[in-house]
Amino acid sequence: MNYKEALEKLSVCGQQHILEYYDELSDDEKECLLSQVENLDMSLLKYFNERNVSGKRGDFKPLGAVSIKEVSERYDEFSGAGLDAIKNGKVAAVLLAGGQGTRLGFEHPKGMFNIGIDKNLYIFECLMNNIKSVSEKAEAFIPLYIMTSETNNSETIDFFEKHNYFGYNKDYVTFFVQDMAFAVDDAGKIILEEKGKIFLSPNGNGGWFSSIAKAGLLKEIKDKGIEWINVFAVDNVLQKIADPAFIGAVICSECESGGKVVSKVSPDEKVGVLCLEDERPSIVEYYEMTDEMINRREADGSLSYRYGVILNYLFRTDRLEKIMNNEMPVHIVKKKVNCLDGNGNPVNREVFKFETLVLDMIHMQESCLSYEVERNHEFAPVKNAEGVDSVDSARKLLIENGIEI
Ligand code: UTP
Repeated sequence: MNYKEALEKLSVCGQQHILEYYDELSDDEKECLLSQVENLDMSLLKYFNERNVSGKRGDFKPLGAVSIKEVSERYDEFSGAGLDAIKNGKVAAVLLAGGQGTRLGFEHPKGMFNIGIDKNLYIFECLMNNIKSVSEKAEAFIPLYIMTSETNNSETIDFFEKHNYFGYNKDYVTFFVQDMAFAVDDAGKIILEEKGKIFLSPNGNGGWFSSIAKAGLLKEIKDKGIEWINVFAVDNVLQKIADPAFIGAVICSECESGGKVVSKVSPDEKVGVLCLEDERPSIVEYYEMTDEMINRREADGSLSYRYGVILNYLFRTDRLEKIMNNEMPVHIVKKKVNCLDGNGNPVNREVFKFETLVLDMIHMQESCLSYEVERNHEFAPVKNAEGVDSVDSARKLLIENGIEI
């Protein structure tokens, strides 16, 4: 794309400010900027312009879960079915590690954070220890696909190499890179990171399956006969990966997906709730719930919308393939980033990013098994530097679970 074509593309959407410093750039910088402009997906701008028009949601209904009690009663049956699936090579895991961990404020991929106190214990290490324990039980390696972003891909791979994949079989670990998207300011103007560079950041965790396909890994997944994919977040240090009982429960239920949930600690806990929307499984965000939904109770006194998601889902590969090209909702997310202000000076400020979310894939499933787990045994998120869901709270939970840190 040449300068004139770039200017034309940008002018149509009122974004010609991107070329404001063009004359100050070196030839290489000019070429990079023009190529960035060529690849911009301007259709994202409509989501920003429509951000205040609340998307119409359907009719919500509560969805029950396989409770902790039922899981413990049927544990052998569930974990037996799950272990069989793992042994037969039908299960893979996908670690979502493309995020930027802005709230934690750590300069490297979040998984590289050392959560240990008396010894080194990296977040990635906690996760690899967890997958290793299942693979030992199943006597089979579980293929692990790790989603990174252009920003953190090489650092993540180097870290795994340096730590010898934390004792896991490296042949079963594959990295793939997710897509990036631009961000805008309050006025909807695309942000620059440098005078010759548009600010780009990972476009949310919702594109993980299409990124797998784009990376050419789908054929391998199908050739290997992988029927189930367990997707999980990097930042829960108690995350159970390819949990045989969870996988077995979903298989036995004949549902086409599953989601791990925890009982909410209070009606207004800020967590997305797995429920039904227009008779299909769906996740309603806490800020989308009416007071009536938040406080509604069942005859036994328990909250009707009680089960919060913890970003650990199980999907069927064939179903994912069918929905791969479905349009996903685009969420506008406010985050603080390093970029240029309107006068071309470096600044750290809030911008609006465009993200698709894996939780929206649940509504594309015919059915989803809500599977309750013990919060204190399986949910220790590291989101913030301090306070709620922080390094401190996660450390306490690791210790409570007998893990040396
Ligand atoms: P979060 O929504 O917590 O985002 O990600 P984040 O980027 O890690 O952290 P903040 O909000 O900037 O503080 C939930 C999970 O989804 C992954 C993250 O790595 C984490 O495992 N994720 C998020 C991606 O893989 N890609 C993305 O673009 C965003």
